[in-house]
Amino acid sequence: MSGDPDIPPFFEVRDLRQTLDGQEVLRGVSLDVPTGKTTVILGGSGAGKSVLLRHLNGLMKPLAGTVKALGTDLGPLSEKALRPIRRRIGVLFQDGALFDSMDVGANVAFPLREQGERDPAVIAARVDEVLSLVGLRHQERKMPDALSGGMRKRVSLARALAARPDCLLYDEPTAGLDPILSENITRLIARLQSGFHLTSVMVTHHLGSMRFVADQVVFLKDGVVRYAGDPGGLDRSDDPDIREFLSADAMGRE
Ligand SMILES: Nc1ncnc2c1ncn2[C@@H]1O[C@H](COP(=O)(O)OP(=O)(O)OP(=O)(O)O)[C@@H](O)[C@H]1O
Ligand SMILES: [Mg+2]
Repeated sequence: MSGDPDIPPFFEVRDLRQTLDGQEVLRGVSLDVPTGKTTVILGGSGAGKSVLLRHLNGLMKPLAGTVKALGTDLGPLSEKALRPIRRRIGVLFQDGALFDSMDVGANVAFPLREQGERDPAVIAARVDEVLSLVGLRHQERKMPDALSGGMRKRVSLARALAARPDCLLYDEPTAGLDPILSENITRLIARLQSGFHLTSVMVTHHLGSMRFVADQVVFLKDGVVRYAGDPGGLDRSDDPDIREFLSADAMGRE
């Protein structure tokens, strides 16, 4: 699935290579992330999914190859030059990564303050709006350690949305959640997608979520893209590693 040919891709990754601690983690990854669509990255543990995601907002720089976001090559950019691009890209880290010393409201307001917003009324209104979106209205005063795992994920999602990004990167948004919460988060992600036309990149082990949200699926194995295309094509693939991955899920081992 290559998206609308008239709209340039949000991300263009070309022959991306990365070596960490002497290990080739990404070995020539190329892919386009279509604008306004959801791309799901699948693959076993250690495949390089999180490392790939970290290149998309410039948190990691390519050893070789290029990563372009909105047509701009991120490789040569300084931290300062990356800032305006990062503002358009929200990130939901696997563990929520909330600031434990700040309450929910301050956590969610953080990216707004970083953008220079100082008006308390504007900040409060936006915090209320995004907390409502994730079903956590009026929870501003709670501290992160008083939240369940699922609530932490939702606060983290609210924080990622606060700055009105055009794109969201999710690393395992449903990992460690019970099936009901996992489904709730997946539905919320799908709702955000259809409501705001966000470009999304979601790393997951969870095939159920993938099937619910994916326009495009990318299967990574040992730092190489084995499949990129629509979810139906993945099901028809005869690549033994993909078959194994899919059948493990069918046995309930995700
Ligand atoms: N900061 C780092 N320093 C050294 N090696 C790293 C670093 N980050 C990742 N790696 C290595 O890169 C490989 C890919 O890691 P990555 O975190 O991308 O895997 P993953 O596909 O996200 O796996 P999982 O599903 O378990 O999260 C692993 O072998 C890992 O040990
Ligand atoms: Mg990972």
